[in-house]
Amino acid sequence: MKALGLGILGSGKGSNCRAILEGIRAGTLPARARVVISDVFDAPILEIAREFSVPNAYLPPGQFRTRLEPNVEAELVRMLREADVDLVALAGFMRVLKSTTLEAFPRRIINIHPSLLPKFPGLEAWKQALAAGETVTGCTVHYVDEKIDHGDIIAQREVPVLPDDSAESLHARIQIAEHELYPAAIAQLCAECSG
Ligand code: GRF
Repeated sequence: MKALGLGILGSGKGSNCRAILEGIRAGTLPARARVVISDVFDAPILEIAREFSVPNAYLPPGQFRTRLEPNVEAELVRMLREADVDLVALAGFMRVLKSTTLEAFPRRIINIHPSLLPKFPGLEAWKQALAAGETVTGCTVHYVDEKIDHGDIIAQREVPVLPDDSAESLHARIQIAEHELYPAAIAQLCAECSG
């Protein structure tokens, strides 16, 4: 049986990418990492891809700040197809994908977000949860649609907000949960695809 081909897009640190690649290496995630692509030239996520010998590329995003230029987005789709990607996993990718990519990979693009969606979409969701006085927050893996941090939910994990939490300590605890949840959710999708 053909393993699910994974494409990972990220703009930064890449800790979720690392967790996914470690899951694949450990054999708990029955997927093949086909390519890692970043819109940031020196993003650590590209270094992580190289560490795991996964093909990787910097994709210059063009003139916009929050999305890719249309011709760049077409190039992204071409790269993902050429790499034989079945499922696209966003891992800290800081640009909104438009219809070019969404239509090329219908219900095949997923994201992880550091809150219990639909609560606290947008930036620094852990700070939003703290400011709102939540006692529980968490992380969500969801399908990507045309809205930001929106789309059908695949899996969620709760994380308690502790009385003495700072933004940093809460974020760190949510990231630990993310690193378990994201590979597990992708493994679940792999099982559904092959089953
Ligand atoms: C994660 O917290 C994820 O929820 C959000 O972006 C962050 C990426 O972190 N979408 P990393 O680059 O995987 O460390």
